[in-house]
Amino acid sequence: MAYRKIKGVILAGGLGTRLMPLTKITNKHLLPVYNRPMIHWPILSLIDAGVTEIMIVTGGSFAGDFLQLLENGAEFGLRDIHYTYQKGEGGIAAALSLAEDFVDRDRIVVILGDNIFEKSLRPHVEAYRQQATGAKILLREVPDPQRFGVPELRGDKVVGIEEKPKAPKSSYAVTGVYMYDDYVWDIIRTLKPSGRGELEITDVNNAYIRRGDLTWGMIDGWWSDAGTFDSLLLASQLVSERERAKA
Ligand code: G1P
Repeated sequence: MAYRKIKGVILAGGLGTRLMPLTKITNKHLLPVYNRPMIHWPILSLIDAGVTEIMIVTGGSFAGDFLQLLENGAEFGLRDIHYTYQKGEGGIAAALSLAEDFVDRDRIVVILGDNIFEKSLRPHVEAYRQQATGAKILLREVPDPQRFGVPELRGDKVVGIEEKPKAPKSSYAVTGVYMYDDYVWDIIRTLKPSGRGELEITDVNNAYIRRGDLTWGMIDGWWSDAGTFDSLLLASQLVSERERAKA
């Protein structure tokens, strides 16, 4: 089978309102998570999964700080890093749409800039390389599914995803890693803003489900977003344990 090229897109925009006042003077994804700025962790996850052509989508007043911090990615062994700028707030799917020209017709691994994973994503990305078409999402059991996109499972199929449901249909969260083929751009063009005025990534995934073309994998090891005070603190604690165990 032909080796499919997969590019990486890290979404690092947003206002980080849940972390005010920390985010009054910097972008959420530049805040520390243990011994690195948050954005380093998704970059390292992509590289570890074999994805080295990376675009960062950011926005707001501190976008220039990403260039200053990451430069051309040489410290990660990258040839360069691509950047683009999201004007205003439009949701995750709107941010992703800005990467269309960079991605061209290749496949993508999208990772939310505040998502941190204990273990390598490589097995999941490798599985996706073998997938003929469509999308792949990664799930993780959580104690508080109502904070996330929540899958409804029937047998071994995800039959629908609800964004932050009051009555979750499972105890799983859809984590912030999404793998898509080039059909994603057509889907995004059909999306309408949700109740919170955003183009939702959950609606992209539901469109793939309706086409019968979405697979899922289960994350092992811990996973944390870092978008609230508690999850930011937890992410630092978890990363510190992992990094010290390595040392
Ligand atoms: C976003 C997605 C949600 C997903 C979560 C993972 O939520 O909309 O489906 O479960 O990321 O971190 P947000 O953090 O934007 O509220």
